[in-house]
Amino acid sequence: MIVKQFVNYNKMPNNEFINRHVGPREEEISYMLRKMGFNSLDELIEKTIPESIRLTEPLSLKEGISEGKYLEMVKKLAAKNKIFSSYIGMGYYNTHTPAVIIRNVLENPVWYTSYTPYQADISQGRLEALLNYQTIVSDLTATDIANASLLDEATAAAEAMIMMFNTRSRQQEKDGIKKCLVDEAIWQQTKSVVETRAVQLGIGIEYISYDKMKFDSKQHFGVILQYPDADGNIRDYSEFTEEIHKEGGKVAVASDLLALTQLKPPGEWGADIVFGSSQRFGLPMAFGGPHAAFFAVKEEYKRNMPGRIIGITKDVNGKPALRMALQTREQHIKRERATSNICTAQALMAMMSGFYGVYHGQEGVSEIGKRVHNLTVRLALALETMGIVRKNNYFFDTLRIKLPENIETLHLKNKFLSKEINLLYLNDNELGISFDETTTLEDVEEIVIIFSELSGKNAPKVSETDKVMIPDNLKRTSGFMQQEVFKKYRSETELMRYIKRLERKDISLTQSMISLGSCTMKLNAAAEMFPITWAEFGGLHPFVPEDQAEGYYEMMKELKNDLAQITGFQGVSLQPNSGAAGEYAGLVIIKEYLESINQGHRKIALIPSSAHGTNPASAVMAGYDIVIIKCDDKGNIDMTDFKEKAELHKDNLACVIITYPSTHGVFESSIIDLCKITHDNGGQVYMDGANMNAQVGLTSPGFIGADVCHLNLHKTFASPHGGGGPGVGPVCVAEHLVEFLPGHPMIEGNDVKKSVISAAPYGSAGILPITYGYIKMMGNEGLTYATKIAILNANYLANELKDEFSVLYKGENGCVAHEMILECRNFKAVSGITETDIAKRLMDYGFHAPTLSFPVHGTLMIEPTESESLAELDKFVEVLKNIHKEIKEIESGEADKEDNVLKNAPHPQYAIVTDDWNHSYGREKAAFPLDWVRNNKFWIDVARVDDAYGDRNLVCNCNSFM
Ligand SMILES: Cc1ncc(COP(=O)(O)O)c(C=O)c1O
Repeated sequence: MIVKQFVNYNKMPNNEFINRHVGPREEEISYMLRKMGFNSLDELIEKTIPESIRLTEPLSLKEGISEGKYLEMVKKLAAKNKIFSSYIGMGYYNTHTPAVIIRNVLENPVWYTSYTPYQADISQGRLEALLNYQTIVSDLTATDIANASLLDEATAAAEAMIMMFNTRSRQQEKDGIKKCLVDEAIWQQTKSVVETRAVQLGIGIEYISYDKMKFDSKQHFGVILQYPDADGNIRDYSEFTEEIHKEGGKVAVASDLLALTQLKPPGEWGADIVFGSSQRFGLPMAFGGPHAAFFAVKEEYKRNMPGRIIGITKDVNGKPALRMALQTREQHIKRERATSNICTAQALMAMMSGFYGVYHGQEGVSEIGKRVHNLTVRLALALETMGIVRKNNYFFDTLRIKLPENIETLHLKNKFLSKEINLLYLNDNELGISFDETTTLEDVEEIVIIFSELSGKNAPKVSETDKVMIPDNLKRTSGFMQQEVFKKYRSETELMRYIKRLERKDISLTQSMISLGSCTMKLNAAAEMFPITWAEFGGLHPFVPEDQAEGYYEMMKELKNDLAQITGFQGVSLQPNSGAAGEYAGLVIIKEYLESINQGHRKIALIPSSAHGTNPASAVMAGYDIVIIKCDDKGNIDMTDFKEKAELHKDNLACVIITYPSTHGVFESSIIDLCKITHDNGGQVYMDGANMNAQVGLTSPGFIGADVCHLNLHKTFASPHGGGGPGVGPVCVAEHLVEFLPGHPMIEGNDVKKSVISAAPYGSAGILPITYGYIKMMGNEGLTYATKIAILNANYLANELKDEFSVLYKGENGCVAHEMILECRNFKAVSGITETDIAKRLMDYGFHAPTLSFPVHGTLMIEPTESESLAELDKFVEVLKNIHKEIKEIESGEADKEDNVLKNAPHPQYAIVTDDWNHSYGREKAAFPLDWVRNNKFWIDVARVDDAYGDRNLVCNCNSFM
């Protein structure tokens, strides 16, 4: 039986945007279906998705609109946001994003549509940009090694706590030492996230002012401080840190890159870990994110550090090259033994901050830091003259003011609001004023005048001063950012050319299809991207009063409603800022729910062996015990094993975590049984929504019977990957779990009882307009149609390649879902060719490798998405067939077993043009294996990189690279 909505949507919807988003044209779709022996798109869908889980009613979202209409609509929405001058601080500051970076990086699809640089050979541009970022961070913090970003400052604090916990001494581990001391003066949002993370792992947090701390290694494993602290103070922690080290503890410090241009860096006074947000290095506040968090450690902890690390190595010919160091996949996602679940981070934001550093250089950022401090000093002196005292004697950019009796806070607040100024209002008539790169002398004068009106005192002149309110022994004396890269590109022309030079080294969607399975590299439409660079979205501090962010609230409300409907759930939180953060949030929600029904003892999470690494990693971080479920030889969950284990653990079963359709690219019909068995045994069903691109409009996690899912907006919902982030990972839940959705102290108050997942209340709010635009323009029909075409494109590829590469797993009717796994293991025995050789050879043809050896070793996982046209699919097929021919040439002895185009792939430009060509095949075959490759040749920068060399000689800054 063909259900109604499939019939109705069989034709391409008549909407200008849908036709732009989706690749194949109507007549091409008929051709593709005919070639596979299907009469209609619906027939294909029927054969692919088990009837038991197919929606019987279409979604009831609004119909799609054109680009023009959408932009008109979103402009009106944006106008409802009010951009006041915000001196709130608390980790978010105004900054000037250089236009050259907005235009050439943030708005440039080469940078925003590329993937995480797992394939180093065609990612040298973004790897270099990230290396610059790491260098800035390790120089400014004076630490040995920095990573290439984490999600935000608060989650970085939690990662620091967990890293200190995991690196406890043997004795401490044996004694079960589980307490962390945290200075009272750290941001409230950091406290909340750290608390949430600590509870799950049974870690106790003790808040106390650092000068009253009594570190005892029989109780505590580490300390978290903030420098400058949350009250704006600059304190000398050097003796304190020495004491902690003597006692065997570690010290992690939240800090601020701009402040560190003026302050003695934490690495110089002994800190073990330094973390924070690099937002004020050129990133808009964007109502809370995305921004890159930084994380840097002493050399001895380099193997314990979470996140991706870029390191220097060389290629097989000895040319210096970059790559992700210490394992191709993240070193910390060790499934059940994971020490962190961070996967997608904030690569694009880190690269932007890196370019900001390159553009300004050491002198530029020092000058900005000096100016910010100087304006703050001027305000402090002017206020002093009027008898308005501050609580923090020393400071960098923040004054903590105690209002005199004669000034009433509410009156003051209204006065400032009437001038469109936001300050930070605290208890007991205290307020905070934080300056930033954009603050001017006129701004200071305006504030002084308002205070003079309030206090009835004459406004003093805001005079010039060279006074510095930083203690002498905490002034920065050491140099930083002295490398060539921070000196050479200081004019716009030079920076523009540098950015372009780097981008030419990278394959992005601007070059060709990126068929990475499980990553959904679909179109990130320009119209969807437009609003994110508008000031009305970028200029808002995350903690402004609600009435200044009406546009955001309206958009988020609609977006949440739409996502709830799409997932078949009742509640949505937009707070998690990556897929893994969404997983973590969902698992915490399940835990809290179980506790609320007196089932808190349930701790077992059943996870199939095919699961993505972040599933077990998030479960470990959320305090679950993991039991692995086997998969059968078709890639399906082994239901006998599952049932046995669910029943065996029925008294302690908390949840099952499944990806659907599975990471093996199959819609398993046993899913309904799986949900039932889980519920019958007292557990909840967590569905990893990374593969929602195969579900939208056709089925849904809620309809199938799951209780929670997360979405990867940076996969299914058109938000770009950004070379490894930003991501957005909303968590969506059924009715009974709505009350456990994350909260935030700046929305619900400091004693918020709910778990807090991210630093900002709405996570990466600044990029939500992308998904909002995608849903609004695609509309009801378009979203469902996109799912069908994603399934069509995958099945077309599987069918076209079936003679050369067998597809490892298929559904009951021989169809794949939206992706497929190609078997490559059989080539090795005869020709010696591996899946890696095939992946590298694809680059010579101008294609990015598919997902390599995940979830099955020796295979390639391919996901074309709906956005790829028939022409591009056919090109890809032709390339893979030609590669197959090249393998056969080796098998037959026509080509040399060692010196062949696959083993030597990729062939970089310098190798092709060398006078010293001495291969058994010609240059032409190496560089232009098919005639049309000439028309769009991607010139590769480095040959295959030597992973092991880089790890043996770990260097993660650009001191010796250029
Ligand atoms: C199946 C699956 N689950 C979870 C994730 C984690 O998402 P993120 O990288 O956004 O943290 C991924 C990302 O690749 C994935 O493929």
